[in-house]
This record gives sequence, structure tokens and C-alpha cells, in this order.
Amino acid sequence: MDFQKICNQTEELAKEVGAFIREEGAKFSFGTEVSKGKNDFVTRVDKEAEKRLISGLKQILPQSTFLAEEGTEEYAESDLVWIIDPIDGTTNFIHQAPPFSISLALQVKSILCVGVVYEIAADECFSAWKDGGAFLNKKGITVSSTSGVNSSLLATGFPYTEYGRMSKFMETLTYFFHNSHGVRRLGSAAVDLAYVACGRYDAFYEYNLKPWDVAAGAFIVQEAGGAVCDFKGGDKFLFGKEIIASNANAHAEFVKVIGDIMNE
Ligand code: IPD
Ligand code: CA
Repeated sequence: MDFQKICNQTEELAKEVGAFIREEGAKFSFGTEVSKGKNDFVTRVDKEAEKRLISGLKQILPQSTFLAEEGTEEYAESDLVWIIDPIDGTTNFIHQAPPFSISLALQVKSILCVGVVYEIAADECFSAWKDGGAFLNKKGITVSSTSGVNSSLLATGFPYTEYGRMSKFMETLTYFFHNSHGVRRLGSAAVDLAYVACGRYDAFYEYNLKPWDVAAGAFIVQEAGGAVCDFKGGDKFLFGKEIIASNANAHAEFVKVIGDIMNE
């Protein structure tokens, strides 16, 4: 399979649907969003974008199936699965406060092989294909070389619906407020991961994320030379609802700090 070609085609599609999301955003009326649960929203733009993405991806790989946030197609197991978030950062989109992004990942026999994160407002397209490296608008990117937590800038996501682990999470923040360059909360996990991949952030961690929030970004981090795991240092970051991504140098220290607190 020509993953580079598939990646290029996927990027084009993400930009095309991204342009639609940008145009719709400019005329979006606050209050037309629908609540799927506490602080969990969907708009007609998410739904229409997902339809367009699925129809485009079917043209790229007709035999594939889809695991998509808004459930446009019922998920069916197959060798070729696209994991799709049509707008990662829907709350940001509703408030027209960037970033918000399209996140598209292809799994072949359960192995991530292509990832695209398109940050719509800044027109930044992050991409990677298996063993091909990672790119931002077609230029090669790598993770940072920062060697420790003390000199790192981190990103995270604040709990907004699942508060069970919140006090432990607050402990991690306290630690990082004292022992790092700072913590950012952008509101799109896919973009947070993309920023780790290109070295803007040294690490990202969050719990309660879904596969479509992380699949593409985590893969791009790996292809950019970084490391990704769950809070125990294992590989259950895609479906395990917890993720740590960082540059490879500082990874062991991040896993220790976050794991010691969150797994206590
Ligand atoms: C959300 C974003 C956010 C993260 C949430 C996600 P959505 O995705 O990635 O940064 O903190 O946990 O659910 O709902 O906007 O697609
Ligand atoms: Ca999402």
C-alpha cells in the first residue's frame, strides 16, 4: 500500500472540508449547537463535515470502514479503519475561539499507518505515514530535544465531564506549575499532540479522551520521533482513555511524575 499517496490525498480532503468548516464558522450562530451530554456538543457543521470526510475517504480507499465521533456510519470491524473526528475542539468552534481541527487516522490491521491533523484557523496541516516521518505543511518536523520536565512546556485538557479523577489531576497540575515552564490548555487534543510533534510543546497528557481525539495526533508524534503511552507506560493510549505524549528524551520522567500521581 502506498501510504505516502494515501496521506497526500487525505491532506487534500482535510483542507477541502476544513475550508467548509471555516466558512460555516464565519456565519455560525451560537445557540444552534446540540448537547450530547454535559459540556459535550455537536453542531450541524460537525455532522456535515463528517459526511463529507467519509465520502472522500471512501473514494481514497473504497474497502475501508469508519470509527467516527458523530456516528455517520455504524462501525464495522475491518482491515482498514479510518478513525475520524470531524471537528476536534467543537466547544472552541461554537465560540469561534481557535484552535479546532480535523483529525483523520488510518489503521491497517489495527496498526496506525496514516495520520492527518488539520488546524483550520491557522491553515496548518500536520501529517505522517508509516516509517515516512512527520510533516507540517509538507515540511519535515521533529519533537523537541528538551531533556527534562523542569525545562518543558506542557499541554493538557481540563476535566469537563468526568470528575472522578479530578483531585489527582489537580495534583499533577500543582507539580507542573512548580516544576516546568508552564501548562497550556488549547481545547483540541489533536492540536495539542500535533504541537508536541513539531516541538512547540514538550509533552501533553489528558484522561478521558476518545480514540478519535488522539489517533492521528499520537501517530504523528511517534513518526516525529516522540513517545506515546498510557498512564502506566503501556500502549493502551488509543482506547484506554488516558495518554501521555512527549519528546523521547523527557518521556520516562513525564511517565513517572504523571503515573505516580494518577495511579496512586
Ligand atoms: C475534545 C477536545 C478537548 C479535550 C476533550 C475532547 P471534541 O474533543 O479534544 O481538547 O479536552 O476531552 O473531547 O469533543 O471537541 O471533539
Ligand atoms: Ca474530539
